[in-house]
Amino acid sequence: MKTSRSFLWLAVWTVAAVAAMPIFSGTIVGSKHDLTHVIPAFFIHSSTMNNYGEVCVYCHAPHGATTAIDAPLWNHRTPSQPYTLYSSSTLDSIPGQPGGYSLACLSCHDGTIGVDEIINAPGSGDNLGGPWYGNSAVAVHWKMNPDPFSGATCAMCHDGSTGHYALMGYLGTDLRNDHPIGMTYPTPAQDPDFSAPDNPQSGWGGASSHDVKLYGGKIECPSCHNVHDPDTIPFLRKSNQNSALCTTCHIK
Ligand code: HEC
Ligand code: HEC
Ligand code: HEC
Ligand code: HEC
Ligand code: HEC
Repeated sequence: MKTSRSFLWLAVWTVAAVAAMPIFSGTIVGSKHDLTHVIPAFFIHSSTMNNYGEVCVYCHAPHGATTAIDAPLWNHRTPSQPYTLYSSSTLDSIPGQPGGYSLACLSCHDGTIGVDEIINAPGSGDNLGGPWYGNSAVAVHWKMNPDPFSGATCAMCHDGSTGHYALMGYLGTDLRNDHPIGMTYPTPAQDPDFSAPDNPQSGWGGASSHDVKLYGGKIECPSCHNVHDPDTIPFLRKSNQNSALCTTCHIK
């Protein structure tokens, strides 16, 4: 009798524990881009980032978003520095300064702005300074900066020993070692080494598809990445098995 009872409790706890585990597929919720998820999972983060209790608000707000960059209802402080651009002697297209859709990513990934530095906090429509839902504002907004000696940076722990290695996520403002962005995708007449997209403005697979995208005909960070979908690591629009992502564009 006693045995079957504890067995029952074990079963109940197992079911409860499994149900409580954040296993989501095809959604930003519970992913590395869910900054509300990161914080309760590891209380140590509460001194590095604000938990606003909403997933989307780190990047979007329904009202009071910024018009400083061309990105949908953007709610994160935006970078303005000029970036050092990719160049090479075999390049035909001319990479431009990153467009709004790339600046959106760089607003966290260039390491100059704190990941939680948003424009419109939830709750009141107030600007930074609160009042906030849930946690109160912290004094420092930690950045994805690789230099652990420069103060409040995620790299203090994310060096692969205290926390997982995350320095690859830091691109910096020198984009010379990154795939070029900000250039108009060539037509087959301009460059026969490239496949023709379904739509020269929006890319492959139609507006509602998650396939490789162009933004006003240009390549930007989210051409290859889907910030909302962690399923194809790291947040890729399609698997790069057999270089399928690369050969969507490059005929090689
Ligand atoms: C880490 C930043 C980030 C978070 C968090 C985020 N987004 Fe986005 N979102 C972006 C970026 C960058 C774009 C533009 C690139 C693109 O189109 O994928 C975008 C585009 C969009 C778009 C327009 C393009 C499309 O795919 O339909 C919608 C709608 C959207 N987001 C909704 C949401 C919602 C709802 C949430 C919360 C559940 C959310 N986002 C969370 C960064 C984010
Ligand atoms: C609000 C800040 C923020 C914005 C905006 C943002 N990211 Fe991130 N991103 C993060 C954080 C935080 C991580 C997790 C870093 C870590 O592993 O500790 C991350 C991780 C990633 C990763 C690596 C995931 C992995 O599994 O290692 C990729 C790829 C990525 N982001 C791409 C993008 C792209 C592309 C955009 C724009 C479309 C973008 N991010 C916008 C904060 C942001
Ligand atoms: C005091 C040390 C410390 C600092 C500073 C720190 N982290 Fe972490 N972080 C950890 C530890 C420990 C873990 C759990 C082990 C792991 O995933 O590496 C973790 C996990 C994470 C995860 C994975 C969470 C998950 O559920 O998969 C993300 C994303 C993350 N941190 C982002 C950040 C970002 C962004 C910053 C800077 C704003 C930051 N961390 C600063 C220690 C830290
Ligand atoms: C042409 C496609 C393409 C473009 C454009 C692109 N990326 Fe990536 N990115 C990738 C691929 C593929 C990977 C995975 C590389 C690997 O696994 O070694 C990646 C990896 C990453 C990672 C994770 C690094 C790691 O290994 O943890 C981050 C963060 C990232 N990209 C951010 C960005 C940002 C920000 C931009 C715009 C400045 C951008 N990407 C533009 C294809 C692209
Ligand atoms: C969305 C379309 C697209 C995707 C996806 C894409 N590229 Fe590109 N890539 C381009 C364009 C356009 C250029 C500029 C080429 C030029 O002007 O000569 C370029 C440039 C390059 C260059 C530099 C060429 C030079 O002459 O300096 C390399 C190398 C490259 N891509 C490799 C890759 C790899 C590897 C992948 C997959 C991880 C990839 N690309 C994915 C469109 C794409």
